Amino acid sequence: MAGATTQWTSRFAFLMAAIGSAVGLGNLWRFPFQTGQNGGAAFVIVYLLCVLFVAFPILMAELSVGRHKGLSAVGSTRQLALDSGKSANWSMVGWIGVLASFAILTTYSVVAGQVMAYSLMSFMGEFAGQAVNSAPQVASLYDGATHALTWHTVFIVASVAVVSAGLHGGIERVVTVLMPIFFVMLVGLSIYALSTGAAAKAISYLFAPDFSAITPLTVLAAMGQAFFSLGVGAAVMITYGSFLPKEENIGNSAGIIAGADTMVAVVAGLMIFPIIFANGLDPAAGGGLIFDALPAVFSGLPGGSFIGGLFFFLAFIAALTSAISLLLTASAVGIEQFGLSRTASAAIFGALAWTVGAATIVVTGLGNWVDFVGGSILLTTGGLLIAVFVGWIVPGKIMRDELHNTSDGLFNFWHFTVRYLAPVAVGMTLILGIDAKFNFGLSAMLGSIGGG
Ligand code: PHE
Repeated sequence: MAGATTQWTSRFAFLMAAIGSAVGLGNLWRFPFQTGQNGGAAFVIVYLLCVLFVAFPILMAELSVGRHKGLSAVGSTRQLALDSGKSANWSMVGWIGVLASFAILTTYSVVAGQVMAYSLMSFMGEFAGQAVNSAPQVASLYDGATHALTWHTVFIVASVAVVSAGLHGGIERVVTVLMPIFFVMLVGLSIYALSTGAAAKAISYLFAPDFSAITPLTVLAAMGQAFFSLGVGAAVMITYGSFLPKEENIGNSAGIIAGADTMVAVVAGLMIFPIIFANGLDPAAGGGLIFDALPAVFSGLPGGSFIGGLFFFLAFIAALTSAISLLLTASAVGIEQFGLSRTASAAIFGALAWTVGAATIVVTGLGNWVDFVGGSILLTTGGLLIAVFVGWIVPGKIMRDELHNTSDGLFNFWHFTVRYLAPVAVGMTLILGIDAKFNFGLSAMLGSIGGG
């Protein structure tokens, strides 16, 4: 399946799959609380800059690398290095990305499982009658390891089932049906939220920036969010790019994918913040923002159990179409490098991801580490390496051929960003991220210089 012979059935199928990969819990769950914790609109602006100048060029790079020979992330990077007269060891660029997507899948599935459970619980009216700010009661309905383990298992099994059914029989079928449903539901729910909630407050929170709120940590969070949300640095877009035909316009597709992903994040903000503000909740509450607070809020609204069920179902669709891209990335490597069958590869990597995810449920604190290593270190390192690889290792001529139907203007912008801007920006993000985790004091020092 990962060979050069399999291709997307249509451009529509490719775009739905790629947008499905990009749009996920990162947009519906992570973006709102990152915005809340990092100063609202100021964060949004920095985020948009990170997308435009760093994540979007890397997205183009990954799609091109994958399409070059239509191989898995590992095979693609190795082959492209060889074609450039460089060492086959450059396949480590692919390996790092694959490690990142695998690591992300482990904890992603735990959160996605909770989303699935919440959808069902909400539809069944289990949250009904909870007072707003009854977060502890809501949380107690999904208590302990048993619930989390069960739903994590259900979610992984669903992802394995889709990936082992193949690109055409599994992934394309799922995304071409679910993504259009997702968009209709998203629009419907945001209209509902804007008309029943504190719309004006939400809009100014998202769009009226207070620039003094920008610190090095804002930039760090925004860059991390841009990588995670577009899904770059994890070799997923190399894998999806490997099924692209040569005539596909990569610059154009990458623009559509990045644009759709950004739009969904902003619309998700317009769906969630009116509800948050109307109920006096704290937007900076963190990762529990959606799980602890929203069910209780929904239950107090007309038709709330149903609306809440829809909201979590929406998040489930987004999560599933992302998880299958993460799992496919590792499976494609298993098929190509280890000679596994499609089903065996999906099942083995699914089982491995399940094991690590289950460990994060049982061992307190482990999840934070896995998120740090996967979502921060490996993801940004993967992005940094891809930029360096296509910017400095692969000759510009080969990249120009791969991006043959891209305009000169876009190609030059792209080549400049992957050579200079992205390596510097991402390199600094990586250093800041490690510093912030271990409290070496660098970001605090920069913060005091910047006056933030
Ligand atoms: N972009 C996905 C989201 O926003 C997560 C993801 C990360 C997908 C990395 C692929 C690669 O939820």
